[in-house]
Amino acid sequence: MSAIHPPTTRLWWKQPLDRVEGTWIAIAFFWCLIMFFMMPYWHVTGKQNLSNEAYRVSPEAHGKKAQEMVDKYTVRTESDQKIPVVHPPTGSDVYLVARLWAWWPILELEKGKSYRLHLSAMDYMHGFSLQPSNINLQVIPGYDMVVTVTPNQEGTYSIVCNEYCGIGHHTMVNRLYVVNK
Ligand code: CUA
Repeated sequence: MSAIHPPTTRLWWKQPLDRVEGTWIAIAFFWCLIMFFMMPYWHVTGKQNLSNEAYRVSPEAHGKKAQEMVDKYTVRTESDQKIPVVHPPTGSDVYLVARLWAWWPILELEKGKSYRLHLSAMDYMHGFSLQPSNINLQVIPGYDMVVTVTPNQEGTYSIVCNEYCGIGHHTMVNRLYVVNK
């Protein structure tokens, strides 16, 4: 038998399973089960997996909420593109817009305070990657990805798009400030 010619015996799949073959299937299956149960296990005991929520939202509605937040709480602008830096009230809902090829606006959060961070995309799928804290989330148009965040370290974080979204994908970066007040 080869990949090109038909098998010589037509009912080749009825041959008994080789012992080595069966062993490998059992090992692979067993490993799948381990990985499957590690997901809920790490969710509960691990420090990394997020308890995020997802809702439906239209890109227009998400953009509107972000705009309202920017109009109310912008404290300064940065770069020659005048990107607003928003310092929202602690405990509030904060919005981050993903679109070709930028994150908008720049958020400035306070250390030790909790926020409800809403992520959604205007056009295609993007990936929210927060460095160096190794947080990764998919940002999908039509879905409001909500994460309750409590920054525990002040500093400047980088937001990188981690989902290939076209020719400007590598330029889709932003920053996030965590300040101590
Ligand atoms: Cu957005 Cu890659």
